[in-house]
Amino acid sequence: MNLFEVYNQYEIDLTIGSGSKLSDSKGNEYIDFYGGHGVVSIGHCHPHYVESIESQLKRLGFYSNAVQNGLQKKLANKLCELSGYNDYNLFLCNSGAEANENALKIAGFHTGKKKVIAMKGAFHGRTGGALAVTDNAALASSFNADHEVVFIDLNNIMALKNHLQKGNVAVVIIEGIQGVNGVYEPTSEFLNKARELCDEFDALMILDEVQSGYGRSGLFFAHQYSGLKADIITIAKGMGNGFPVAGVLIHPNIKAKKGMLGTTFGGNHLACAAALAVLEVIEKESLIGNARKVGDDLMLKLSKLEGVKSVRGKGLMIGIDLHNMAEIRKVLLKNYGFFTGSSGANTLRLLPPLNISQALADEFVEALTTVIGGSQS
Ligand SMILES: Cc1ncc(COP(=O)(O)O)c(C=O)c1O
Repeated sequence: MNLFEVYNQYEIDLTIGSGSKLSDSKGNEYIDFYGGHGVVSIGHCHPHYVESIESQLKRLGFYSNAVQNGLQKKLANKLCELSGYNDYNLFLCNSGAEANENALKIAGFHTGKKKVIAMKGAFHGRTGGALAVTDNAALASSFNADHEVVFIDLNNIMALKNHLQKGNVAVVIIEGIQGVNGVYEPTSEFLNKARELCDEFDALMILDEVQSGYGRSGLFFAHQYSGLKADIITIAKGMGNGFPVAGVLIHPNIKAKKGMLGTTFGGNHLACAAALAVLEVIEKESLIGNARKVGDDLMLKLSKLEGVKSVRGKGLMIGIDLHNMAEIRKVLLKNYGFFTGSSGANTLRLLPPLNISQALADEFVEALTTVIGGSQS
């Protein structure tokens, strides 16, 4: 059987990871400034993470949600403690798209309304509902038609108000920081006004922190820079450091009903062991502080480089606009071993593990300086 080939791939077969370093089947070495899509939060094969999963696997790998699972409660408690969302409830699932799918569904159940306001440039995943609120028609098939969604410009308060005034809006969904679109942030003014307007028009507010959450921005959630609370927050990528696990944090006023949501794999024993280990490492090694410190320094140094048009982001979620971005990205990988991401034609996207060292960050700046120099001559 052949693979259903939907991915553009490098001719690289990675076999070993340790911290922020990787190596492939041919023995080539790499430095991970992309965290495998912003997923690797505590570094590859962190010893505490490996040990936690290994010892859980020896006890019990899986049972379904037909039985109680004490690890889910432990995970929810730790998540409350580190995120500051103390009185919220947690629903566990398996991927970012599934988290958003459930969040949208909860909003429908709670409000009885249908319409969604999403942001232009948004990416929320590739399943039915998540794709409907994603602003990229190229990803949709005929199956994805007929959702009631309007897209407004990020940070356009008037447009948000106009659409809420028209009525029947169940929910407004906003990324903590737009990742796939090129690292664009909602302003504090927009988020706080959106919070007020959602309350005024009885709509819920979902903050999609799938990419920007879990400490990546230098706070547990990116929207916490703006000081507001969302009704629903979705989490995934950094949560399991590569183990597929995701979640929905739900305001205590939104009541659960038996059978309202469900999943076979969501919140299984191994997933919880992985997610708990991630939070323990984030706390013990002060990784959110490291993301802020190394990220701030990196952004400052990057913004001073000749040839860099602009630098955006928070913590270790960084977008760098460059002429010749695609070529620069290729050379960074081929000649220096740096994995990076991209958004559109011009933006290089950095999402390294949250424990990336200052020394590796400096190495990256040095390599980029040389590559930009070369590409300009
Ligand atoms: C903000 C955001 N939401 C949702 C998703 C979808 O997550 P997944 O690929 O785990 O379904 C992504 C993935 O890139 C994302 O960046």
